[in-house]
Amino acid sequence: MADRTQNAMWGGRFAAGPDALMEAINASIGFDRRLAAQDIRASRAHAAMLAATGILSDSDAAAIGEGLLTVLSEIEAGGFAFRTELEDIHMNVEARLAELIGAPAGRLHTARSRNDQVATDFRLWVREQTEAAIAALERLMRALLAQAEEGADWVMPGFTHLQVAQPVTWGHHMMAYVEMFARDRGRLADARARMNECPLGAAALAGTAFPIDREMTARALGFDRPMANSIDAVSDRDFALEFLSAAAISAIHLSRLAEELVIWSSAQFRFVRISDRFTTGSSIMPQKRNPDAAELIRAKTGRILGAAVALFTVMKGLPLAYSKDMQEDKEQVFDAADTLMLGLAAMEGMLRETRPDRDALEAAAAQGFSTATDLADWLVRAAGLPFREAHHVTGRLVALAEARGCDLPDLPIAEMQAVHPAISPEVFAVLGVRNSVASRTSYGGTAPAEVRAQIARWKEILR
Ligand code: ARG
Repeated sequence: MADRTQNAMWGGRFAAGPDALMEAINASIGFDRRLAAQDIRASRAHAAMLAATGILSDSDAAAIGEGLLTVLSEIEAGGFAFRTELEDIHMNVEARLAELIGAPAGRLHTARSRNDQVATDFRLWVREQTEAAIAALERLMRALLAQAEEGADWVMPGFTHLQVAQPVTWGHHMMAYVEMFARDRGRLADARARMNECPLGAAALAGTAFPIDREMTARALGFDRPMANSIDAVSDRDFALEFLSAAAISAIHLSRLAEELVIWSSAQFRFVRISDRFTTGSSIMPQKRNPDAAELIRAKTGRILGAAVALFTVMKGLPLAYSKDMQEDKEQVFDAADTLMLGLAAMEGMLRETRPDRDALEAAAAQGFSTATDLADWLVRAAGLPFREAHHVTGRLVALAEARGCDLPDLPIAEMQAVHPAISPEVFAVLGVRNSVASRTSYGGTAPAEVRAQIARWKEILR
């Protein structure tokens, strides 16, 4: 634009062009160019509808439709000259269309506004990302299932307070994350179903006097129906907030798994070995294998959570309908979506190359008196003690083992009987970690048979 004194799109009533700072704070083209494909898709649907309803001539609509495809190919080829003075993707596309096809381009914006345009484009973009995140979650769940299947009966310590609690299986622990990521997937699917209504045709906020067909554009863009209230259609960004909320919860699940991998891969634990391809060395300490990928997945949670907080804050005080504040929705969602996709993919890749150390897991499972609960339960079942008394007796046996520096199965039977005469040698059967996990057959419990049933259920669902 040679003449910068007036904006070609809305300059009619302006005597002077914007200050450079105004342009800097106002322009969104630096980031909303990511909506180019969605913008052009929605504009083509709009032009086709304007022709079908007789608002636009078929020849103008055809020229617009063709011209928009040319603009799209120019953008995709990377040669498109985005112009900051044209503010955003919508006006950049339209201005280029005018260069390409001349006068008919000026008729595209009939019966719409940038308000319903951006709401439509952004919904399309968030919908695509939601679907991509669902697919990425399913790939991650499959990686977890592969780990679970291999180690369905590998015994490891289960922790509470990061203190050894009871023996569990590796498969059971992996399947806990399958359940978490499955709920993330469900949250995204719910959000997708709710967001799939079309704002296009709401125009600035009040609808339009032109005889448009909103069902037609909604259908053409893959929406279930047009949004029923034009003010709501241009005002709300709850679909973006739902995406960010679901993304934030998923990021927290990723972060907890990442944290466990950091702990488990340490020299103190040695539960797992993460492959060379997902670890780094140190420039000074030759022995190091640092779990950087896991650490960064953990750390990037902050960006996703931050994006959610930022957009909630943008939206909280806005009067209806559109305010320019809402332009701030995009960078947050773009960054959160990119970060989530990277985290999900990196976690999947890392898990596929992480080898649990079966022997180290089992050895650790026997430490920390992890079968104390089994002992107490045995005293209830075999010796008829009330659970509270059994708990007390077991506590004394643990103290005895601690004093002798041995594990529970190493206590001499005579010393155990001195604590309680009802204890018989059969007790040793429940003190081993394998028997312990095998006995926990309640629904959802850690018994390998139960874990395998859950693995089979999820494999069927994800097939
Ligand atoms: N770039 C704007 C945004 O992202 C487009 C909508 C502009 N609407 C307006 N009334 N100025 O929100």
